[in-house]
Parts: sequence; structure tokens; C-alpha cells
Amino acid sequence: MDVYEAVTSRRAVRRFTDRQVPKEVLARVLSTAAWAPSASNLQPWHIYVLTGAPLAELKKRAGERLAAGDPWDEPEYQQYPTELKSPYRERRSAFGEQRYGALGIPREDIEARQRAASANWQCFGAPAALFCYIDRDLGPAQWSDVGMYLQSVMLLLRAEGLHSCTQMAWAKYHRTVGELLSPPGELILFCGMSIGFEDGTADHVRTGRAPLDETLTVVDGC
Ligand SMILES: Cc1cc2nc3c(=O)[nH]c(=O)nc-3n(C[C@H](O)[C@H](O)[C@H](O)COP(=O)(O)O)c2cc1C
Repeated sequence: MDVYEAVTSRRAVRRFTDRQVPKEVLARVLSTAAWAPSASNLQPWHIYVLTGAPLAELKKRAGERLAAGDPWDEPEYQQYPTELKSPYRERRSAFGEQRYGALGIPREDIEARQRAASANWQCFGAPAALFCYIDRDLGPAQWSDVGMYLQSVMLLLRAEGLHSCTQMAWAKYHRTVGELLSPPGELILFCGMSIGFEDGTADHVRTGRAPLDETLTVVDGC
């Protein structure tokens, strides 16, 4: 698979089979992703991988919290501005329409949307997940480094025939994740990432993108 195909075939997959991800494949992907760039080579990502019984335990605990109507943990970072301005607000609602529309859930059916979103905390059925932490003392440039690392992981997973879904949703249960992983206190959970083989029987929507001229400006000097 070439890089173009890896980039365009990567998408947020939200239904996985229970087929195990071979340990050596995960090891190959994660050791290669470590070559991701970072400003001054700080390599600010702290990655934990969970499979098998510990992941099952995490899903169980998260499921129990959800069923009990437990409030989310206090946020350790702000996921979105309180007031999302244009054009981001419109893009977010277009995404919601696409994601939930594909599941036949109308806009006003908040409960059905919440039910669909709850699959986040079962890793959408994936048999493997990684959890990405960053030191709370680091700033925007290092968060951006972490993004490059995560995209590297996702593209390498495509090269191995695997799919993924990055999930900030896990930050809402960072205490439960922390109970299983015991990360040092200076780390913040940025996100989880479900990893596995796609359940190809499920319908999926290819989330669109804004017209390129909204996000790209070329100043052509020729
Ligand atoms: C940092 C980050 C956090 C995300 N968090 C979630 C999440 O919690 N749950 C989810 O279902 N998708 C999540 N996504 C997936 C995005 O919704 C998805 O990438 C976006 O809608 C574009 O769709 P595509 O990845 O299929 O192209 C996240 C993506 C990123 C990059």
C-alpha cells in the first residue's frame, strides 16, 4: 500500500470484528511510528497498549459507569472551545448529521445518539486499544507532535490491513483508564485509539471534507 492509499483509506472505523491483532504486527507498527517527527525531538507521546483481559476489564468498568449514569470525570484539558465559532460549528454539525444519519438516527433523537456514542467505551468491539498520554507541562507544539505520532500509527495500521478510531471520548473516563494503567501523575490522557480489523458487514459513511479552498491558500509565485 502506498502512502496515498494509506491516507485516503484511513477513516474512523466504528465497528470491528473480534479477530485478534497479532502482537508482532502491533510491535512493528508502534516501533515504526516512533520515527514520527517532533519539535527538538522531544517525542512527547506516552503510549499504553491494552489487549485481552485488561482491555476487557476496562470495557467492563466503563460500561458499568455508563449504565450507572456516572458523570464524566472532570476534564483535564478542554476538548473544544465553549462557543465553537463558524465554520467549525457548521462542520461539527455536518459531521453529526453524517455519522448519525448513516445509522438512521434523526437529529432530534438525542437518546439514540447517546446510545450509539456509548460504543466508544466498548472500543467499538476492537480487540486492541492504545491510550495516548502527554505531560501536563507541555504546550500546543507538543500536542501537535502527538497528533503527528498518532497519524503515523493510523497509517501504519492501514499498511497492515488494520483500521482504527481515535477517541477523545476516553478522556471523559480518564480515571477508569488510569485505574488500569497507573500512569505517572504528571501525565494527562489525551485520547484512546481502538485498533482492529473492520467489520465489513457494517454500513459506513465516508466523512466528507470542506471544499479545499476553505482550508488551503496557494500563493503562486510562478
Ligand atoms: C483527536 C481525535 C479525537 C477523536 N475522538 C473521537 C471519539 O471520541 N469518538 C469517535 O467516534 N470518533 C472520534 N474521532 C474521529 C473523528 O470523528 C473523525 O476522524 C472525523 O470525523 C473525520 O472522519 P474520518 O476519520 O472517518 O475521515 C476523533 C478523531 C481525532 C483526530
